[in-house]
Amino acid sequence: MKDFDTVIYGGQVVNSTHTVTCDIGIVDGRVVALGEHLEGGQERIDANNLLVLPGGIDSHVHLAQPSGSAIMADDFTSGTKSAAFGGNTLVLPFALQPVGESLADAVQAYQAKAQGKALTDYSFHPIITDPTEPVLRELPNIIRSGHRSLKIFMAYDGLKLSDRQILDVFAVARREKALVMIHAENYDMIRFATEALASDGKLAPKYHAAAHAMAAEEEATNRILALAEWMNVAIAILHVSTRRAIEEIRAAQRQGVQVFAETCPQYLVLTAEDLDRPGKEGAKFVCSPPPRDPDSQAACWEGLKNGVFALFSSDHCPFRFEGAGGKQPTSGELDFRSIPNGIPGIETRLPILFSEGVTAGKIDVNRFVAVSSTNHARIYGFYPKKGLIAVGADADIVLWDPSQRVTISQRILHHDCDYTPYEGRQVTGWPVRTLLGGKTIVHEGSLCAEPGVGQFRAQGTPTQPHVQQAA
Ligand code: URP
Ligand code: ZN
Ligand code: ZN
Repeated sequence: MKDFDTVIYGGQVVNSTHTVTCDIGIVDGRVVALGEHLEGGQERIDANNLLVLPGGIDSHVHLAQPSGSAIMADDFTSGTKSAAFGGNTLVLPFALQPVGESLADAVQAYQAKAQGKALTDYSFHPIITDPTEPVLRELPNIIRSGHRSLKIFMAYDGLKLSDRQILDVFAVARREKALVMIHAENYDMIRFATEALASDGKLAPKYHAAAHAMAAEEEATNRILALAEWMNVAIAILHVSTRRAIEEIRAAQRQGVQVFAETCPQYLVLTAEDLDRPGKEGAKFVCSPPPRDPDSQAACWEGLKNGVFALFSSDHCPFRFEGAGGKQPTSGELDFRSIPNGIPGIETRLPILFSEGVTAGKIDVNRFVAVSSTNHARIYGFYPKKGLIAVGADADIVLWDPSQRVTISQRILHHDCDYTPYEGRQVTGWPVRTLLGGKTIVHEGSLCAEPGVGQFRAQGTPTQPHVQQAA
């Protein structure tokens, strides 16, 4: 038998359903053996005292996405580099359709932006902003070419679809067995609140949270659940942040509606009070939905524990704090209406969930793997090649030191954004080595690969997450 290229020995191998202490044999980028005392290997990696996890999959990130006058700091190289340092091996950003243009062209142009640039594997979701008849006719080919998840917005000028347009997209998605990802906030409620706040001169960053009220998210969540149930289409509701929205989703899941839900680090560890930090600091926390309150945080943790949330993503949206196209205006006072929405977090997603969840005893390590890797692979069609450590799977693996204590700081991160909203946060648990297809891409703080090592991965058939369902 051919020798192993690599043997990872002595670690605790953690999958979404179980943990075993065993060695891993890798040949040609894939796991070919799991067992005790595996001999040989061109390279032997000592994983004693470490957890050995499937590489993180972040299915909600924004890289090199056109955003009006705002400038996204990360392209495919810097964004995937930061992802790799954070223990991820696959990321899924978005190909945005400019209004009035072809979606197929947007997908092709985005593909070209990524070509030869990535340090992790990648795939991407098309964003539909303008579902005209010709665009709806383009959709089946786009879906069949491996983009089986489509994002739509219920809010934001230039992005928002009407209910009628949503139904048109749902009809194609149902026929083609695609998944529709939803940004659920009520556009008119946000506009109404924004205008009322502005007419009172309330324009500081903290008013962004008031403008994007919990009720606006809850109304849109309710409505999209009703539309999806009526159309019998699979949806994923993204960046869910409120208790009532979670309860609505849980009720729908119990009734058999095909709905997956996602939450993000900002809804676990930040609150609306962060938008009220002194000076201009509050701008660093402007994202939509905004961080909420302690009760909402508790509800998000409950949802992660009881299975309402299958997905935990970063929603990494790297707008800089300083400079043109960033969060601060080039002149004048901050005005929440013109602060680009979105915050960075691709590198800190896994350490925050591990520390606040596993180390603090809120979730177990198998659930950590499920919501940060395995379920993303299942729902977005990469399983069983990705999202698990098993014979036949890609050797996308992260070695994780559960006892390493780190203070998160911009100084140690690798994105091209100029701040982290988690500055000064202490975490316990940190990725120490990331392997993509059996090759080490990050080891002890050093990048060990060149852009282009990451490949496009087409989405295949989704599989149902094998996790506890909402009780
Ligand atoms: O504020 C956010 N979340 N910006 C990113 C775009 C989106 O809605 O996901
Ligand atoms: Zn969104
Ligand atoms: Zn997003």
